[in-house]
Amino acid sequence: MKDQGYQVIDAIVEHRTKMTDKKVYATNSYEVLNDIVKREMPLIGEDPSEVFKELDHLISNNVAHLDHPRFFSFIPGPSNYYSVLADTLATGYNVFAGHWMGGAYAAMIETRTLEWLAEIMEFPKESGGIFTSGGSMANLTAIVAARENKLPEDHSNGVIYYSEQTHSSLSKALRVIGFKPKNMRKIKSDTHFRIDTNQLLQTLEEDIKNGLKPFCIIGNAGTTNTGAIDDLNTMAQIAKEKNCWFHIDAAYGGATMLSKEYKKELQGIEKADSITLDPHKWWFQPYEIGCLLVRDRNILKEAFTVTAEYLDDTVSNSGEINYYEHGVQLSRSFRALKLYTFFRCVGLEKIGADITNGIKNAEYIEKLLKQKEYWEIITKPSIGIISFRVKISEDETENDKINAKVSKYLLEDGYAMITTTKLKGHLALRMCPIHPETTLEFLEKTFGIMNSYIENFTEN
Ligand SMILES: Cc1ncc(COP(=O)(O)O)c(C=O)c1O
Repeated sequence: MKDQGYQVIDAIVEHRTKMTDKKVYATNSYEVLNDIVKREMPLIGEDPSEVFKELDHLISNNVAHLDHPRFFSFIPGPSNYYSVLADTLATGYNVFAGHWMGGAYAAMIETRTLEWLAEIMEFPKESGGIFTSGGSMANLTAIVAARENKLPEDHSNGVIYYSEQTHSSLSKALRVIGFKPKNMRKIKSDTHFRIDTNQLLQTLEEDIKNGLKPFCIIGNAGTTNTGAIDDLNTMAQIAKEKNCWFHIDAAYGGATMLSKEYKKELQGIEKADSITLDPHKWWFQPYEIGCLLVRDRNILKEAFTVTAEYLDDTVSNSGEINYYEHGVQLSRSFRALKLYTFFRCVGLEKIGADITNGIKNAEYIEKLLKQKEYWEIITKPSIGIISFRVKISEDETENDKINAKVSKYLLEDGYAMITTTKLKGHLALRMCPIHPETTLEFLEKTFGIMNSYIENFTEN
C-alpha cells in the first residue's frame, strides 16, 4: 500500500512541479484515445503499480491542464497541493459528511469553514450554508431555498429575474426544478454587461400588475463572460422593496473579497439573502467543491428537511448539524476539509495577495493589447477577466474567422490556451489569468506567439 501511495504522490508532485515545461493542452483525437482505452472487462486483477503508471501517463497526456499557469480559458482551476492531500485523507477515511452521527468532525469543520467564508463575505452571525459539488448545485440549492421561503404553498405564478449574462447553470437549475418560461425573466444588460436595473424594476412591476408573484432576483458578482459585476446595491434595494429573495452568483468573483485592494468592487454583496461561491475556481481547490451561503441558516433547514424513519436516530441536538437537512445530498464527501486545510496551511493574507495578482495580470494584458493596433479591447479587465478581438479586416465576419483561427493556432501550439466567446454579436477572445504562478513573462510570450501569427497572416 505504501509503495503504491508513494508512486501516486511522486506522480502528483512531478506534475505540479514540472507543469510549466508541459503543454497546456495535449489530447489525442477521439479515435486514438478510444483505441488506447479499448480493453476487455478485467476479470483478473493486474499489477497495481503498472496500472497506476499507465493512468498517470494517460491522464497527463489527454486532458487540458486547467491547473496550468498558462491556462487562460473559461475559469481556470489552479488547485493546490495541501488540498489534494486533505482530499486524499478524507477519502482515505471514507468520511461520511451527511450527518453528525456519521461524521461529527466533518460537520464541525464544515460549520467552521462556512463561518470563515461568511465572515469574509461580511454576512451576519446567524448565517450558514453548505458545501456542494460546485457552483451549479449551489445555485440550484439557492433557488429552492428562495422558493420554499417566499412561496411555500404555491409557486405556479412565481417569477425569478436575472440578466442575460447570468451563468447557464441558473437556467438549467430552473428547468430541473420544473420552472417554465413564464416563471423566468431574462433582463437585458447594459453596454458593460451589467443588468439594466431600470428594465428589471419595470418588468417586475408589470408582472405584479398582471397578478404574477416576483419572488427572487439574481445578481452577478463576476460574470463568466466578462467578469461584469451587477449593481448589487440597487438590486438589493429593489429586492427589499418588492419582498424578493436576493441571490448573488459569486461563483467566479466571490474570492475578490480576499483582495484588500479590490474587494470594494463587490460592494453590496453583503446585502444578499444568499451567495454562491465556488472554491474549486478562485479559492484554488481541486474539483469538486462549491458553496452556498445563506443569510439565515434556518431557512436552508426548513427548505430541505424531509424525515424518514431510518434516519430518526440521526436527529441532533442544537449545534450538531446534519448537513443532509441543509441541501440535496444525503451521502456526501468531506469536502470542507480541503478548503479548511488550505486556509490553515497558506493563510488568508497570502491567498488574498494571489487574488490581487490575478486581477493585475488581466490589467497587464490590457497594456500588451495596446501595443498593437490590430487588437480591439471588447471589455476592459474586470476582476481578472478581459476580452478582446483581432480586427484586421473591414468585414467583421471575416474578423470572426480570424479570431477563431488565433485561438485554434494557440491550442495547437500548446504554449497557452485561450478560447472564444461571443460578445456584442461577434467572436471575442477572452482571458482569465488568475493562476498564482502565472508570470508577466508567460503573458508576454503568449502575446508574442499570437502577434507573430497575426502579422504573418496579414503579410500573406
Ligand atoms: C458565474 C458562474 N456561476 C456558476 C458556474 C457553475 O459552476 P460549476 O461549474 O462549479 O458548477 C460557473 C462556472 O464556470 C460560473 O462561472
